[in-house]
Amino acid sequence: MTDDAPRARHVAIIMDGNGRWAKKRHLPRAMGHQRGVEAVRKLVRGAREFGLEALTIYAFSTENWRRPDEEISDLMALMKRFILSDLDEMADNGIRLKIIGDYRAFASDVVELIEGALARTADNTGTILAVALNYGSHDEIARAAAKAAAKGAVTPEAIEAELDTADLPPLDLLIRTSGEERLSNFLLWQAAYAELIFTEVLWPDFTAEHLGAALETFAQRERRYGGR
Ligand code: FPP
Repeated sequence: MTDDAPRARHVAIIMDGNGRWAKKRHLPRAMGHQRGVEAVRKLVRGAREFGLEALTIYAFSTENWRRPDEEISDLMALMKRFILSDLDEMADNGIRLKIIGDYRAFASDVVELIEGALARTADNTGTILAVALNYGSHDEIARAAAKAAAKGAVTPEAIEAELDTADLPPLDLLIRTSGEERLSNFLLWQAAYAELIFTEVLWPDFTAEHLGAALETFAQRERRYGGR
């Protein structure tokens, strides 16, 4: 990457393919999610090394409640374990945790852990790790529009100022793994001018090197924001 190439400040990832990763290996789905968490851990380290200002990951959507109860509780257990095992490292490395979506719908023990992690990292000034939990763009935009209306101005700027991501830099790059090419109700507003990269790599196999390659691709793209 040359010094004057555009650098991504904010990258978002739809972490897809945990189930297929496990199926290919005749392993339970939960194992795919478990390996998915390991990929998250490496990604957060990579994001910091690449100097990203913000990394937003889609961990649990408003639609994921439709999954079997057992899978939902596996995902909750993994999230709790991730906070318990990784919070110290993240806090020491200047990561600031942020949640987008309404995580208060989760069980009280999960909410408590999340709030502890938010408080512990609140004053950090390094990479922001924004985790989307019980998140859906339609819900986010509707909530933001209602808040903007209550303040008296439903303009794009007023709505944007009320989005869950209002304090993050503009989204530069959105990556989806596992070969699916859709946004699945993730950051629909924020993706208006983002570059999109779809990769066949299944989420548990995604590494910091894959992130680096995506950032190289981003640096080579020319963004025109509707101009010419
Ligand atoms: C998609 O794979 C993945 C998810 C629905 C959950 C993503 C969650 C994690 C990686 C772990 C939890 C995150 C944190 C922050 C600790 P899929 O099950 O839809 O895969 P498939 O499409 O191959 O079935």
